Order: sequence, then C-alpha cells, then structure tokens
Amino acid sequence: MKPKVREADRLACNAQYLGHATVIVTSENGRRIIIDPWLSGNPRCPKKFHDPGKIDYIVLTHGHSDHSGSAVELAQKYSAHIFATYELALLLGSDGVPESQVTPMNKGGTAVIPESSGLMVTLTQAFHSSSYKTADGQTHYAGEACGVVLTLESGQNLYHAGDTLLFGDMKFIHELYRPDVAFLPIGSHFTMGPEQAAKAVQLIRPGIVVPMHYGTFDVLTGTPEEFRSALKDFQTQVIELAPGEDFEF
Ligand code: NI
Ligand code: MN
Repeated sequence: MKPKVREADRLACNAQYLGHATVIVTSENGRRIIIDPWLSGNPRCPKKFHDPGKIDYIVLTHGHSDHSGSAVELAQKYSAHIFATYELALLLGSDGVPESQVTPMNKGGTAVIPESSGLMVTLTQAFHSSSYKTADGQTHYAGEACGVVLTLESGQNLYHAGDTLLFGDMKFIHELYRPDVAFLPIGSHFTMGPEQAAKAVQLIRPGIVVPMHYGTFDVLTGTPEEFRSALKDFQTQVIELAPGEDFEF
C-alpha cells in the first residue's frame, strides 16, 4: 500500500454517480476512470451523460449488462483501456475491443496503470454471478464477479463493491486499503439490501459511503433511508447522490 499524501499537499479527486452502479472517478491528475458503465440503456442516467466525455480507463466488476452495457462503445469512442476478469476480457475481445486495450486480471490481483503516475486497480472478492451477452445476442459465462479497489495517485482508495452479498472478509478491505470512499449496493433482490449493507460498512469502515444499485427497477426496493436507519449510530459519512451529482474527496 502506498503512503497517503498529506491532505494539504494534494489536489482533490472527484467521484460522480451516473445512476445504478455507474461511477466516474477523476483522479487528481485529471485521469477519468469509469466503473461499471451503463449509460444510454440506464433508466437512471441523465440524458446529458449518455456521452460522458473523454474516458481514459474502464473497470468492470462483472459482465451483466447493467454493469458493462456501455463498455465496448466507450472503449471504441475514446480508446479507453478496460480492466476486467479474464473471461470477461476475452468476451470483450470477441466483441471488437482490441487486445491492446484490455487488461485481463483476476481477483486478488493489482494492475498498476503504466502511463498514469500511480493509479492502481485491484480486483476484490464479490459473491454474485457473471455472464455477458455478445453483440451476436449469445449469452456467455463470464467468469466470477468481483469488486474493485481503485488506488489514486495520492494513495486514496475508492472501493466499489460491484454486485455482492455481505461477506465477512470485507474486513480485509478495511485492513488493507482503508477506503476513503465506498460505493455499496443497497437495493436487495440481486445484491445486499440496506441491513446487510449497513453491516458491510461496519467491516469496511470507509470515510464516506455512497449507496447505489437501488430504485432502478421495481424489485430494487432498498432505500437510502432504510440504509441510514440500519447504520444506527455507526459513525460514517453517508453521501446520497442523485444521478449526475458528484463530490470531491
Ligand atoms: Ni449483476
Ligand atoms: Mn447489477
């Protein structure tokens, strides 16, 4: 783990939520990383962000279309480089993303982004499934689902849990990375709901937690209010973002 830069000596990073599980992180050096891009098909993504502008890197937690639906399009339009699990990376290749633009990885591994002055992508555990529908309409097994820890130039860490249930080893994400920010699903049905997500916060102990993956479909019934009340008096800052909103950290 890199030592963190003193607060006063660094520029701010920014995280913007585009609805569902789509997050754009802008690093202090202005690199733009999109996690789980789902833009024009995403009923929660404001129209003006269907084209989010220049993207440098794409990180995918799994192949379901609500997490990867805009990956190929962004890779082609902006020559953005994709980080994904091995099986998913191969499928993106068969959908036309050049091999030179994809870094296949797997859980537990860290990729240092070479030309970036210190950005790192670590794929972490998640308990979920993963499949990917290629452009020819066929659905393929896409390896295992994961979460991601994004390490910024300053040493700040942002954890995006992807789709997952609560699991005890989330405590290691705290011990190893001490995330400044965590995006956690709270919608239930396909992922953990508010109660489980509140337990997850107690294990991960992030500086800031942002609830995501709720309200997009009727079955995603968990709400930020239920999440806050499940947190009771646990000391953490909850930032609830409407799609399109962002904050600095
Ligand atoms: Ni999923
Ligand atoms: Mn999902």
